[in-house]
Amino acid sequence: MADDIRFFELNTGAKMPSLGLGTWQSSPGLVGDAVAVAIKAGYRHIDCAQAYGNEKEIGLVLKKLVEDGVVKREDLWITSKLWCADHAPEDVPEALHRTLRDLQLDYVDLYLIHWPVRKKKDAVGFKPEDLVEPDIPGTWRAMETLYDSCKARAIGVSNFSTKKLSDLLDVARVPPAVNQVECHPSWQQAKLRSFCKSKGVHLSGYSPLGSPGTTWMKGDVLKNPILLSVAEKLGKTPAQVALRWGLQMGHSVLPKSTNEARIKENLDVFGWSIPEDLFSKFSEIKQERLVKGSSFVHDTFGPYRSVEELWDGEI
Ligand code: A2P
Repeated sequence: MADDIRFFELNTGAKMPSLGLGTWQSSPGLVGDAVAVAIKAGYRHIDCAQAYGNEKEIGLVLKKLVEDGVVKREDLWITSKLWCADHAPEDVPEALHRTLRDLQLDYVDLYLIHWPVRKKKDAVGFKPEDLVEPDIPGTWRAMETLYDSCKARAIGVSNFSTKKLSDLLDVARVPPAVNQVECHPSWQQAKLRSFCKSKGVHLSGYSPLGSPGTTWMKGDVLKNPILLSVAEKLGKTPAQVALRWGLQMGHSVLPKSTNEARIKENLDVFGWSIPEDLFSKFSEIKQERLVKGSSFVHDTFGPYRSVEELWDGEI
């Protein structure tokens, strides 16, 4: 096992840092400091999204860090995501433009369709009557135009099932570089992982710690007895082992934290590895999807009438 897995090469040839700071649920007021602490500690990858409502604050910090010479723009990997209300092809460039303005950047390294879900333009919140039929091929053609313009140096998707990714690959001129999905020891994505591998699409893992602070997700990934026993044997924290497991499985990991000590703890996943005899124990962990996407399905308004339909049975 190579001791370092610092980058994953995408189908564009770009090298994406394997560990990124997640910013979902990082409150305005805290996220800027978190990004500054992370970059000063050595993070080079920040995972953002317009829907997280904190890109402006992140942009201010990125600008200052680059101006102060702490980091060069070209050494950073910044991802953002197209929200569901911006799926109409004519709205896609405008959405990226807003994100670039907020992040104070000329380009993003990776731009993802956040969900295979479409909402009416200007829809706010999660009202079921705002859901409309997605047209992923149409939205994707607009994403391809952004790729051609180099404002998004790679394009991809998020929360796509194996079937939805396969359907997209059938029509894409530019194949998606990444599918960013929930992934941790208690939701290992075996089927999607092997499909992605066979097609050269990189799987990126959000909620790599099982989002322990999110009460509605009821995630107790970090309390799993197998994870705890491996962590104890290796003298590492459960979070570090969960992240290192992800890297050794071949996917990038995007742990969120706004706490300085935990931001640094989560970076200490290089230069050591989980030996094969302990690594193999992870296959015994009971599997459960935590992010079900229930607010994107509705039995009357659809178009996905159940979570089974949203995930094409991968639930
Ligand atoms: P905090 O921001 O206070 O550090 P995920 O990335 O899976 O969504 O998990 C994020 C959650 O995990 C947040 O609640 C975060 O809280 C917490 N967290 C982040 N790093 C660690 C860690 N090393 N140990 C325990 N909890 C962590």
